[in-house]
Amino acid sequence: MRMYDIIMKKRNGGELEDREIRFFIEGYTRGEIPDYQVSALMMAIYFRGMTERETQELTMAMAESGDRLDLSQIHGIKVDKHSTGGVGDKTSLALTPMVAACGVSVAKMSGRGLGHTGGTIDKLESFPGFTTELTRQRFTENVNRIGIAIMGQTADLAPADKKLYALRDVTATVDNMSLIASSIMSKKLAAGADAIVLDVKTGSGAFMKKQEDAEALAREMVRIGRNAGRKTTAVISDMDQPLGLSVGNALEVREAIETLMGKGPEDFEELCLVLGSQMLIAGEKAGSVQEAEKKLKEVIADGSALRKLAEFVEAQGGDSRAVYNPDMLPRAEIVRPVPAPESGYIGSIVCDEVGICSLILGGGRETKESEIDLSVGLTLCRKVGDYVRKGDPLVVVHGNAEKRVEEAAGRYLRACRITDAPPCPGPLIKAVFT
Ligand code: URA
Repeated sequence: MRMYDIIMKKRNGGELEDREIRFFIEGYTRGEIPDYQVSALMMAIYFRGMTERETQELTMAMAESGDRLDLSQIHGIKVDKHSTGGVGDKTSLALTPMVAACGVSVAKMSGRGLGHTGGTIDKLESFPGFTTELTRQRFTENVNRIGIAIMGQTADLAPADKKLYALRDVTATVDNMSLIASSIMSKKLAAGADAIVLDVKTGSGAFMKKQEDAEALAREMVRIGRNAGRKTTAVISDMDQPLGLSVGNALEVREAIETLMGKGPEDFEELCLVLGSQMLIAGEKAGSVQEAEKKLKEVIADGSALRKLAEFVEAQGGDSRAVYNPDMLPRAEIVRPVPAPESGYIGSIVCDEVGICSLILGGGRETKESEIDLSVGLTLCRKVGDYVRKGDPLVVVHGNAEKRVEEAAGRYLRACRITDAPPCPGPLIKAVFT
């Protein structure tokens, strides 16, 4: 078999056979097929697309290209959750202890990530001493004992995707439905959970700006998961403005803690209940959404979800006192309220721009090597649809350098549109594919 023929077949609109897909994935992972040939194939796929069968085979080949986690020593149904990402998305921090307190085991691999704020792991490192460098044995023991463990992604999990994603990133071939779906699902399948709940974001702060694209991606990933024998569901949720009120690592941890105390922002709590319900149903701890929501509300009300977070932090070396006293989390030196320049309704907030404000403050990474400042970020005082009076705070900027605080404040003011008439914001939950 020759890579040249595979490229030409796809370039001409042909359908690749399973063995051809395996050939290029295995050869590329081993370093036997050069980047320039795989780039050409990616571009041909970008223009010609892939059938459902091709996408499935590509996913399986990438999932099987390296390590696969064996979770068989963990009792019960293991449920994983994945978000396509957005600004202020701290869902895993609150959701994981909520579902674990209801008896669903969460054995999760998370990333650090580039972007506006860190990934789940960076956020969790706001707890002094917290580590995700667990041995496989300790990972398994922790899930069996307390119901949660989160570890960093091993270098050898779906290595074919790692190489391909880096290549797509520099060859303008990321935004293809089959390539995105197979990339995400290959990592989820390799991570070994029995059931997967996907949170697919849509809106100005999301990867998928249009709802129809988010829905198509969700359908594709649900189909791939099910064909691979995993219970898979997807929720389409809004990312046209930041989720909750906080953006920034330690600030988001604080908001997750407040949510577990029953004092979280409404939209964030709603998303946790919707995703949590799907996780409880997948984990066979509830038979319906109503029953699941009731259980999730109970574990917030009786404090068991918060205690579960403390147990989890402690089990991974962190100082769990910060769960009950969030003032122990990293805090910025400058905390600056930014007044509204005029009275009116918040018509829109350009979500991506809020993320960039966090990046300017030092809350995210521009390159893999960048240091991240866990203490900085923004706390929104008004969300879309709220009324604000001139001079009242619109947002609070948390930073450690005066110049950066000024720049972030100015940028936030430009991202936030104030209107005379109230806008009609769409629903947070757009659709659920079960
Ligand atoms: N996230 C991934 O993991 N892969 C993609 O292709 C896009 C987003």
